[in-house]
Parts: sequence; structure tokens; C-alpha cells
Amino acid sequence: MRLDKLISQMQIGTRSQVKEYIRNGSVTVNGQVVKKPECKVNALEDKICYMGRELCFQKFAYYMLNKPSGVVTATKDSHDQTVMDLMHDAAGKDLFPVGRLDKDTEGLLLVTNDGTLSHKLLSPKMHVVKTYYVECEGALTSEGIFMLEQGVDIGDEKITLPASVSNVKQLDGTYSMLLSITEGRFHQVKRMIHAVGGNVTYLKRISFGGLFLDKTLANGAWRPLRQEEIMQLANQNQNKNQNKNKED
Ligand code: URA
Repeated sequence: MRLDKLISQMQIGTRSQVKEYIRNGSVTVNGQVVKKPECKVNALEDKICYMGRELCFQKFAYYMLNKPSGVVTATKDSHDQTVMDLMHDAAGKDLFPVGRLDKDTEGLLLVTNDGTLSHKLLSPKMHVVKTYYVECEGALTSEGIFMLEQGVDIGDEKITLPASVSNVKQLDGTYSMLLSITEGRFHQVKRMIHAVGGNVTYLKRISFGGLFLDKTLANGAWRPLRQEEIMQLANQNQNKNQNKNKED
């Protein structure tokens, strides 16, 4: 495999960043500095070091994308640009988005090829916490906000699980707030706000399962997750236990 391709699969950086690291002499293969990104290496036999530290081949890849508005959360689409089109540098790893954000929603989207972790994070039983920055207009009252925190009827069989609301601000008939939910129903935030008399005008996910959107990522930009961030996502059992009592 090409050296730059292998290293970018090891969560060190994007393919173009990795090419730069190789060209500036930060990478050695079996003790020799290699400055050609296209150099062929064997992940199992060659000792590859970046900045003096040996790299271990990682089976799965994990990225955070700051999803922009106007892009659909899908791997392929015949009409619209997809989140995977934004990540063409990471192509060839069978990546897919974990869950979905609406076309007009921005913010944190996890992208991986780890089906087991994705399944776990999306399981309704896990109650993974997702926090959204919401802007809305309409007649939102303190009673409405109280209802969001209790659970609201959004037309499904069951009312929503209690949400948590913070940082509520009002300016000229528009409101903003942080809303944390532990379910992932279709258009859930928009429907919850609608149920209490509001209309969402802007929605951005800022955290997912304890992972926070990197504020240095511009709209449409992405980066590999750090090891501690992967561990944070993998360690969801605590959330599950904390929320179990609320459901019982
Ligand atoms: N809730 C919504 O209504 N839309 C999203 O994209 C995510 C959560």
C-alpha cells in the first residue's frame, strides 16, 4: 500500500496533511526517512514511525465532520451532494455516517467504518446524549420549555423522553437554546419545538455521546478522532445506566 494512504488510515491526519508530513521528513520506514508519499510499504512487516513514534495499524477509522447545511447525510445520492462527497480524501475505507442529520442541519457527524460501534451508538436502549444549538421563532413560553424537559407529544406512540434545556436566550421574537436529547427520532428536535409552539430556523449539533464538535473545524471540514475521543464513544454504558431509571 502507498505510505501516505496507510498513514492516513492510522488517524494521523487527512491524506493531504499526511503527504506534507512525509515530504517534510517526519516519517521513517524501517529507520530511514522516506520523503515520497507514493513509496510502497507493508503494514504488517514494515516499522513505520511518525515523529519518532511507531504507528500501529488500526482496523477501523473514525472521523468527526462539521456538516454544512445543504448536504445530505448519505453515502450516495443522485441529486444532492452527500457528506461522503465532502470526505473524498478518506475514500476507499467503506465509511458511513453514524445516524443522520437533516439536509439543513449543521454540526457534528461521526463517520466511521466500525459497524459494531455505530450500532451501539444508535441503539435506542443506549440513550446516547445528543446536544443541539437551536434557534427558533414563535411563541415559546417558560411552560413550553418545562414541557420539553418533561417529555412532549410529537405525534408518535410515546411522548419524548425528558430533554434538558439550557442557555435559553430571547432576542426580537427569536429564541436560542441548547437542547440535549437521548433519543434519535425522525426530525425530533424540530418536532419537539413545534409541539411547544416554536419553529426551528437553525439547528446545529454540538455534541454526540460525550464527543464535542471541534470548534476549529470550519463548515464542511473533518478530522480523524483522537484515541481518547474514540474511547469516550466506545464507553457509553455509563450513560445507559444513568438514564435507565428515568425510563423505568
Ligand atoms: N432533530 C432534527 O429535527 N433534525 C436533525 O437533523 C437532528 C435532530
